[in-house]
Amino acid sequence: MRNIKGVPHKAAITPDYSLVVIISMSKDTSNPSGKIPKDLMVGAQTSEEQEIAEKMRHVKHKIVILSGKGGVGKTTVAVNLATALAWKGHVVGILDADITGPNVPKMLGLEGTRMVGGDKGLEPVLGPLNILSVSMEFLLQSPDTPIIWRGPLKMRVISEFLSKVNWGNLDYLIIDLPPGTGDETISIMQLIPDLDGVIIVTTPQEVALLDSRKAATMSRTMNVPVLGLIENMSGFHCPHCNEVTNLFDKGGGKQAAQDLKIFFLGDLPFDPRVMTLSDEGKPFIVTDAKSPVAKAFQQVVDRLLERLKGQH
Ligand SMILES: Nc1ncnc2c1ncn2[C@@H]1O[C@H](COP(=O)(O)OP(=O)(O)O)[C@@H](O)[C@H]1O
Ligand SMILES: [Mg+2]
Repeated sequence: MRNIKGVPHKAAITPDYSLVVIISMSKDTSNPSGKIPKDLMVGAQTSEEQEIAEKMRHVKHKIVILSGKGGVGKTTVAVNLATALAWKGHVVGILDADITGPNVPKMLGLEGTRMVGGDKGLEPVLGPLNILSVSMEFLLQSPDTPIIWRGPLKMRVISEFLSKVNWGNLDYLIIDLPPGTGDETISIMQLIPDLDGVIIVTTPQEVALLDSRKAATMSRTMNVPVLGLIENMSGFHCPHCNEVTNLFDKGGGKQAAQDLKIFFLGDLPFDPRVMTLSDEGKPFIVTDAKSPVAKAFQQVVDRLLERLKGQH
């Protein structure tokens, strides 16, 4: 499990020689045995964490898509990134870690599909370009069923998705999160060892930019690298005249990336076809490959791959 920066801690060695870190440094008089209570340990691996580590050992790159706000295009970016990588011939998985608002199945055209259990655990749904997909939606009777769960249950299911799913050997695992820095985000950052890092998606409005700062700060606090920032819907691509008009001040994302010392991966224009194609379950990166938004997205993917090359 990942250590948390800034929390007072003290290292100690357990009898089985696995290193643990005790969060509280104060003497606990209610524990006369002197044994370290399990819930005070950070760093010792439970068997489930070991299972996750074993599964994740077979995944070369693990990339998390994060944002401070909802509706900025995280799922759109996750699905199109997975598709772009699969299109290049990579073996790709996508984990929809938005437990209460799972949208990956719809955007991949997999609505109504069910995940089934096999000899090697829960089998991911095989999507377009052989993308292996896992989502809470694949376990629901109907997409209209609301998930009304508190944090611990959501964390439980994410842990199961990582430890009990037969992911196999993957080149890339893309993880889509709900907005903000809540339970699912913490679970993913804590449970997955060796994350390549997070991609922060934002829109040009000041308020979204402000929230993305929080996402960046959280990643740093949890010792997860930030791979870069994408500014989505940064201008309007008119389907009639083919021109791009800026709806908000241009350059806010780039500026925010500079201020936060984050790599700027690029900006994507607003294009009504992105929405239509997403609703139809057809990722624009292949179904509308010649559009300005697809070309801009391809550049983002190329920059990301360059960065990943530099990391390994
Ligand atoms: N560049 C874009 N142009 C037009 N519509 C977009 C664009 N990016 C995302 N959308 C649309 O905006 C809505 C929210 O996107 P989504 O990916 O679901 O956001 P999030 O996952 O951050 O909540 C969706 O309807 C999606 O189709
Ligand atoms: Mg989403």
